[in-house]
Amino acid sequence: MTRPRNDNFLRALLRQPTDYTPIWLMRQAGRYLPEYCETRRRAGSFLALCKSPSLACEVTMQPLARYDLDAAILFSDILTIPDAMGLGLSFSEGEGPRFERPLREEWAIRDLAVPDPYDHLRYVTDAVAEIRRALDNSVPLIGFSGSPYTLACYMVEGGSSTEFRHIKRMLYARPDLLHHILSINADAVTAYLNAQVESGAQALMIFDSWGGNLSQAAYREFSLAYLRQILAGLIRERDGERIPVIVFTKGGGLWLEDIADSGCDAIGLDWAIELSEARRRVGERVALQGNLDPAVLFAPSDVVASEARKVLDSYGRGDSGHVFNLGHGISQHTPPESVTALVESVHAYSRSLRQKKT
Ligand code: CP3
Repeated sequence: MTRPRNDNFLRALLRQPTDYTPIWLMRQAGRYLPEYCETRRRAGSFLALCKSPSLACEVTMQPLARYDLDAAILFSDILTIPDAMGLGLSFSEGEGPRFERPLREEWAIRDLAVPDPYDHLRYVTDAVAEIRRALDNSVPLIGFSGSPYTLACYMVEGGSSTEFRHIKRMLYARPDLLHHILSINADAVTAYLNAQVESGAQALMIFDSWGGNLSQAAYREFSLAYLRQILAGLIRERDGERIPVIVFTKGGGLWLEDIADSGCDAIGLDWAIELSEARRRVGERVALQGNLDPAVLFAPSDVVASEARKVLDSYGRGDSGHVFNLGHGISQHTPPESVTALVESVHAYSRSLRQKKT
């Protein structure tokens, strides 16, 4: 594998020195960009956009054309796996994802099978290969998946939820059934992420967006245990290059030590935790990614710049181990100019901090 010309993102994840702090944004290709809305309109729907490798490639490249970002992320969704399992995914405007056949009955759960990523999810591996060609070794490409528990939340609830009534009931009343789902999901995620690596992904991120809704004991048993299993089964080196893996448990600030021990290379952080505290707690074990509140981007550019400097100051001295990002996905209401201000100030200020040191 040829190393990208700008490899600062990979270097930071491996805690190697960089000249500045690399930055990319969760959901960097999305509805805040008018060109994304235009391509989605041409595709007909969000899911059709995900399922067309050439259109998925087109929208992956859009934020890189506008901003000096240090990584690209595959344009897709975490719900491709349950869709490939036959749960019947659709997205309705303004309502988010919905499954036609949520997993509620024991027979349906027992019937669940691991999809072959090169068959049912071929559009994803094809998109990865096409994006790598389009990137032409400029910046690294991140592949991703949802965590087994986060996927299970959508599969059991049948869509987005605030209460998580169905999955929590299953967790306490029929833990055997939930463990069965999680074990199939873990095998599916491992095969899916490995197929992305074989197709050209140079780093991986696992989104555990709902792990934070669990108690500490339940987090360890129903989310972390399966993350560990996946991390043990992933391809971690290809053509002599390490494939770093980032684990992002939203609301996981209380469990950083546990996550740092899971076998990941980096932890994604939401904005609730101070980076300095996170760094003190994980020490040299893993790199950190995050963690600006995405709502900062609604403020004027000078505020965006000063809030970005606070995040960099909180991480503190040293020239490695931090990838700048938001603490969650960028909002569709974000003014695109705010992102220009953010990327410029992260690059400029982090460079100046490194110069000050010497
Ligand atoms: O980061 C990127 O740019 C890559 C693309 C990406 C998307 N979804 C595109 C998307 C990634 C990494 C995801 C992950 C994802 N999807 C997560 C984990 C991250 C998180 O936000 O916690 C989750 C929970 C999902 C499931 C999902 N997909 C929901 C709940 C929704 C609806 C929410 C909304 O904003 O409408 C989606 C849709 C979705 N996924 C959009 C995009 C750009 C918006 C859909 C559209 O264009 O209409």
